[in-house]
Amino acid sequence: MPNSVTKANADCEKTFDSVDKLILLVDKELNILNCNRNCEENFRLRGGDEMTQILKSINERRSVREYESKKVPKDMINAIIEAGNEAPSGMNSQPWRFVVVEDEALHKKMIETTVPNAKKILEHVKTSNPDRYQLIMKRYEELEDPIYYSAPVIVFVVGKGPYADMSCPLACMNMMLAAFSLGLGSCWVQFGSLVTDNKEITDSLELKEDEKIFGPIIMGYPRNIPEPPEKRAPDIKWL
Ligand SMILES: Cc1cc2nc3c(=O)[nH]c(=O)nc-3n(C[C@H](O)[C@H](O)[C@H](O)COP(=O)(O)O)c2cc1C
Repeated sequence: MPNSVTKANADCEKTFDSVDKLILLVDKELNILNCNRNCEENFRLRGGDEMTQILKSINERRSVREYESKKVPKDMINAIIEAGNEAPSGMNSQPWRFVVVEDEALHKKMIETTVPNAKKILEHVKTSNPDRYQLIMKRYEELEDPIYYSAPVIVFVVGKGPYADMSCPLACMNMMLAAFSLGLGSCWVQFGSLVTDNKEITDSLELKEDEKIFGPIIMGYPRNIPEPPEKRAPDIKWL
């Protein structure tokens, strides 16, 4: 066996101290080549039935507000959290941790705490958009859980540090897309984060002074998937 091996391209030459290292590099280069080829092929197919899975998921994911009470298997929840954990983050700081709430008693306590807090925030809609306010209040009266929509799983993404504000929402988005890809519904429920004035709840979440809640993301088997809301076309400037 030679002690070293040299790989020569048209424009450069590199020497490796073992064949294994050379094989690793060639593997990596082949992967990049394949990836680029697939990428162009997938892009050509866009818009057709063969739209790439990821674009399909981005387009078809909806905020789901009606759930089956059926329990979600733990390995599915873990897979979704792992997808969140794969999100990009400033300096790869991964400035998040995840708290999964399935406990019904805690869920109930969270509804009791968040409903009055959400109503306080919604007060301004009373004057700015009275019809909308009436509609929302009607829903608050009708639903047993107008905050977490009786979802069987609530995941608090708890962030900390200088990169949390920009990075944690990316973890949330990854989780919502992962949930969709596994056939689950999900929704970011901002009002569900209004729990910080209840010490019993913050103790359960082990929320520290320097931590902030993102989401929470509710998830479960959808009972109804809403029609897509209208989205305006992107405002793009080309330079
Ligand atoms: C930061 C953020 C906060 C949200 N908070 C709530 C909420 O408290 N309650 C709720 O029902 N939906 C909430 N949503 C979901 C939005 O209403 C929803 O994304 C929007 O209507 C578009 O619908 P789509 O997600 O199906 O595209 C929130 C979404 C985001 C991104």
